[in-house]
Amino acid sequence: MNRSITFILAGVIVLLAAALTGTLIFMKNQPPQERSFEPLVEVKAMEPDSSVWGQNFPNQYDSLMKTKTNNADTKYGGSSAFSWLERDPRQKILFAGMPFSKDYNDDRGHANALEDVNATKRVNWDVNDPKRTPGTCYSCKSSDNPALWAEMGMEAYDKMAFADLSKQVNNAIGCANCHEAGTMRLIVTNPALEEALKAQGKDWKTFSRQEMRTVVCANCHVEYYFKGDGKYLTFPWADGTDVDSMISYYEELGFKDWEYPDAKTPMLKAQHPEYEMFTQGSTHYNAGVACADCHMPYVRDGAAKYSSHDVHSPLLNPVQACGQCHTDTDYVVERAGIIQDQVAETKIATEDAIIDAINAIKAAAANPNADAALLDQARKLHREAQFKWDFVSAENSTGFHNPEYALKLLAEATNTARQAQMLAAQSVGDMSLLATGVYYAPPAQ
Ligand code: HEC
Ligand code: HEC
Ligand code: HEC
Ligand code: HEC
Repeated sequence: MNRSITFILAGVIVLLAAALTGTLIFMKNQPPQERSFEPLVEVKAMEPDSSVWGQNFPNQYDSLMKTKTNNADTKYGGSSAFSWLERDPRQKILFAGMPFSKDYNDDRGHANALEDVNATKRVNWDVNDPKRTPGTCYSCKSSDNPALWAEMGMEAYDKMAFADLSKQVNNAIGCANCHEAGTMRLIVTNPALEEALKAQGKDWKTFSRQEMRTVVCANCHVEYYFKGDGKYLTFPWADGTDVDSMISYYEELGFKDWEYPDAKTPMLKAQHPEYEMFTQGSTHYNAGVACADCHMPYVRDGAAKYSSHDVHSPLLNPVQACGQCHTDTDYVVERAGIIQDQVAETKIATEDAIIDAINAIKAAAANPNADAALLDQARKLHREAQFKWDFVSAENSTGFHNPEYALKLLAEATNTARQAQMLAAQSVGDMSLLATGVYYAPPAQ
């Protein structure tokens, strides 16, 4: 073969190889193939009825409907509505004087949200009672909300009595809570989330798809409070989403959820801060993992691949939920169990410390000669200790979402509660109030 042919052949081979590599890199960087679909039905904006959307997306709809009947439990979570007060009676003492001491059940699947809020004994249905439950309590329970908020505005919605609003709220959580009809993109639907992000200078419309796979859950799985007489739904994030920032936010506002009976401590109730707990620098969050990665893994139905909308504990399907990233699924599930056992045990120790503080403060508050300044300082620490404990307790993963932060908060809460107890004892000069492990019967309701 003559030299020039060899050169030409070599050149052609190099060019072909470069073209092939280029094509492969290009293909790898393309977004996954979306099957172009012809919608069978036109879904109107904010359509509350998920079954209408379901005609276009039967897999997503059918899997969402499975959350209605799921009832499998895990060691600490799962889908049945077991009673936390029966499982851990200390919580009756910790929540004395407020509705959570009467009725506090574990969360169930999304399709039950409306039924469960209507059934809880925490709701006060009497529209004439000044302490009636506000409509705001429906904010995280129904796919009717986006359309209602668009129609009447969130301010008017929140001002309504729960009992009155109930007539317009007929569907449990559905497609309209997370998706924009037509484009099907994930969106922020709760005005309170939009406002809380804005207060931090953030605009969700600039977020990446992976970020939205977490932020869409923050429409509901967050700490919140009802602002002012209008019971306006507000997330306390203006100073930050970590616990200390929220405590200082509530402090500046002089906000309390209720007053602890006899101790007279202005208390805070933590809601379900999964989003804040997870995003506070957890290993998974820092690695770019999203809520939907574990709770809505891809599953197959024949040739179709879709996100399972059967949202529940990932410990019930770890091969799908964890196995996409971890090769040794048994190992990480075992690690999750160890984390949860540690957090659950530490939580009980914290509860004991807070109850000791409550007993000491109550005794001191009953003594007319108590040093008022010391006693107030004890109350402030009682409030903080309980909020930190509750942040871990009300967050539904028993520490898994952020093990380091959960254990840090429990350690701080225990320490703060013991200081509260000491200050209460000091306020009346009675060292017998330093006794530990002395329970009392919760006040009759
Ligand atoms: C790395 C995986 C992973 C990620 C990411 C994750 N979770 Fe979880 N989540 C878990 C595990 C594990 C549990 C514990 C379940 C149990 O105890 O049965 C859990 C529990 C829960 C529960 C209670 C479930 C039950 O059975 O009662 C809720 C609610 C929840 N997560 C919401 C969220 C939200 C919202 C996010 C994002 C802010 C999120 N999770 C991110 C793995 C994850
Ligand atoms: C709690 C929030 C939530 C609800 C409710 C919800 N989805 Fe989704 N949906 C998601 C998330 C998260 C994804 C993943 C999106 C992504 O990866 O970009 C998704 C993905 C999808 C997709 C894209 C394909 C896929 O499976 O990944 C379709 C289509 C879809 N959902 C349809 C529906 C329909 C129809 C309903 C109502 C029957 C519904 N969704 C209810 C959160 C939700
Ligand atoms: C519109 C509000 C809303 C949105 C959005 C939402 N949730 Fe929920 N979620 C709830 C409510 C309310 C419950 C409890 C329902 C009940 O107990 O009846 C719940 C329950 C759960 C549970 C417990 C299920 C079980 O079987 O115990 C998990 C896990 C969960 N959500 C994860 C998520 C994840 C992950 C996202 C985001 C992809 C998300 N949720 C988005 C309101 C919401
Ligand atoms: C989308 C990917 C992804 C999914 C899904 C996922 N993980 Fe992980 N996980 C990671 C990454 C990344 C790390 C960081 C450590 C590493 O590089 O291995 C990690 C770390 C861990 C660790 C060690 C944490 C630490 O702080 O040392 C445990 C335990 C764990 N995962 C358990 C689970 C369990 C249980 C599930 C399912 C419920 C799960 N993971 C789902 C990506 C994932």
